[in-house]
Amino acid sequence: MTSRPCRLLFVCLGNICRSPSAEGITNYLIQQRGLTGQITCDSAGTSSYHIGSSPDRRMTAAAAQQGITLLGAARQFEPADFEAFDLILAMDGDNYRHILALDRSGTYAQKVKLICQFCRRYPDREVPDPYYGGESGFKYVIDLLLDACDGLLDHVEQQADLIHPQH
Ligand code: 4NP
Repeated sequence: MTSRPCRLLFVCLGNICRSPSAEGITNYLIQQRGLTGQITCDSAGTSSYHIGSSPDRRMTAAAAQQGITLLGAARQFEPADFEAFDLILAMDGDNYRHILALDRSGTYAQKVKLICQFCRRYPDREVPDPYYGGESGFKYVIDLLLDACDGLLDHVEQQADLIHPQH
């Protein structure tokens, strides 16, 4: 049987705060769980505002406090991502609706989820946008995503077809 990694894409508005955090946190958890190579992560933004930019310094600092490194340069979500990824995780309802609007036929709708549906400890339905707020908002995003991404990985590990997708 041949299998390839399960591919996860995290999506927010700018791809400089929330989705790079989800990517960094999930990579950290993948390593902790010994799943390196079986699950891969990327992130993108629905907007073009920050294409090419590194993760926001305030977000990077909050992540570093939990031992998590944020990497990469912002890119915009593109329709080819629907085929390229197995699950597409939106940070908030606006991101979710924006992604679904790019799939007019609904072909990929089952791949698109709100990341907070995987939270076990936090009641939040969305990851709040920290961009125009203070330091505590960035810390909150990290804490919330640690919960959501841990639940997401449990879900992926439970779904044999996600962790061992066929070519
Ligand atoms: P993100 O945060 O979507 O979590 O990357 C934002 C980044 C930039 C802007 C808004 C939110 N902005 O308006 O430029």
